[in-house]
Amino acid sequence: MRSEGGFDLVAISLVVALGLSLYAGRMQAAITLTPGSKLLQRHFYKKLNTCANVEPFVRHQVTLWWNRENNITAKLLKLLYADCMVNGCDASILLDGPKTEKESDKNSGLDGFVLIDKIKKVLEIRCFQAVSCSDILHLAARDAVYLSGGPSYPVYLGRRDGMESKASWVDLPSPAISIEQGIAYFKSKGLDDMDYATLLGAHTMGKTHCANLNDRLYNFDKTGKPDPSMAKSELEKLRKQCPKTLKKGQRDPTVFLTDRNGEQYKFSNNYYSNVVSNKAVLKVDQDLLRSYNTTQLALEYAGMLGHFKQQFALSISRLGGLNLLTGKQGEIRLNCRFTNKNNPYINHHAK
Ligand SMILES: *[C@@H]1O[C@H](CO)[C@@H](O)[C@H](O)[C@H]1NC(C)=O
Ligand SMILES: *[C@@H]1O[C@H](CO)[C@@H](O)[C@H](O)[C@H]1NC(C)=O
Repeated sequence: MRSEGGFDLVAISLVVALGLSLYAGRMQAAITLTPGSKLLQRHFYKKLNTCANVEPFVRHQVTLWWNRENNITAKLLKLLYADCMVNGCDASILLDGPKTEKESDKNSGLDGFVLIDKIKKVLEIRCFQAVSCSDILHLAARDAVYLSGGPSYPVYLGRRDGMESKASWVDLPSPAISIEQGIAYFKSKGLDDMDYATLLGAHTMGKTHCANLNDRLYNFDKTGKPDPSMAKSELEKLRKQCPKTLKKGQRDPTVFLTDRNGEQYKFSNNYYSNVVSNKAVLKVDQDLLRSYNTTQLALEYAGMLGHFKQQFALSISRLGGLNLLTGKQGEIRLNCRFTNKNNPYINHHAK
């Protein structure tokens, strides 16, 4: 059963290794999956004979949604990241209720839950209580990334869902942290600086609120001046979109993280071209040039879309292996918003 999973793992590593060897003198880093991923398998549900067609079912729902709202890709990537980095990939981000991860300020813009509910509903009809919410999230994100022009990659399956919304959990770090702190945070999770530079590339699509960049435009580090690392043309453009003060009752506007991809929500390497030409929108993006390894990667990805795609597939699979519940751990939720114990729609006294 493992051999096929093992083979795929080798296949990915090989592709990446080939990509790497073309680039002399570059860093040797993440070319294998994280240890947790070894607990997962390709075609897990098919092999167990619990849901042979789970992948086509998910792909169908994601495609229907994406055809109406292509921005779902950015939303699913954010969900997946917020889930896996906090408490591991256990679908804890999907739980409703007070003091849940969903309620954190850091996650205030999260969206995409309704699509996950939709997929779960279909799967509960087709394959009763077989497929975890956590696996659904990973499959859906993969399919959306591909529809947006990103890489196609295998998703290793067999994750189970967390059973409780923990009373205490360590939230995502502030977006204002330095690159050293950001990389240290990734390393504390078992990822590395290559994953950091690569997963930030998800900012090739999506939007952010002006509040997240206004200091760079008007009062950087409380100097009363803009961020000197931002290119003049970018500064002028962003100042037009993000006024210094909002009119009474005006909502904080949003800007595209990678303007050139805009409404198309296209998976491309334009994000890295912006970074290397000092046109990144957020400080966390522009700061990729403040560390040697990440600068090298930004240059490489800006020049070679294929390298970015390959490494993105690997880094997101590495992310998908963090702190997993597998085997008899956790549970398969019936509704992604509730643990089975807290699910108000389950009659716990039946049987
Ligand atoms: C940069 O890459 C080298 C080679 O892979 C690695 O040893 C080093 O730890 C990396 N630096 C950081 C800050 O992660
Ligand atoms: C996502 O796309 C849909 C359809 O184009 C649109 O109605 C919605 O406002 C978009 N959401 C965001 C956050 O841009």
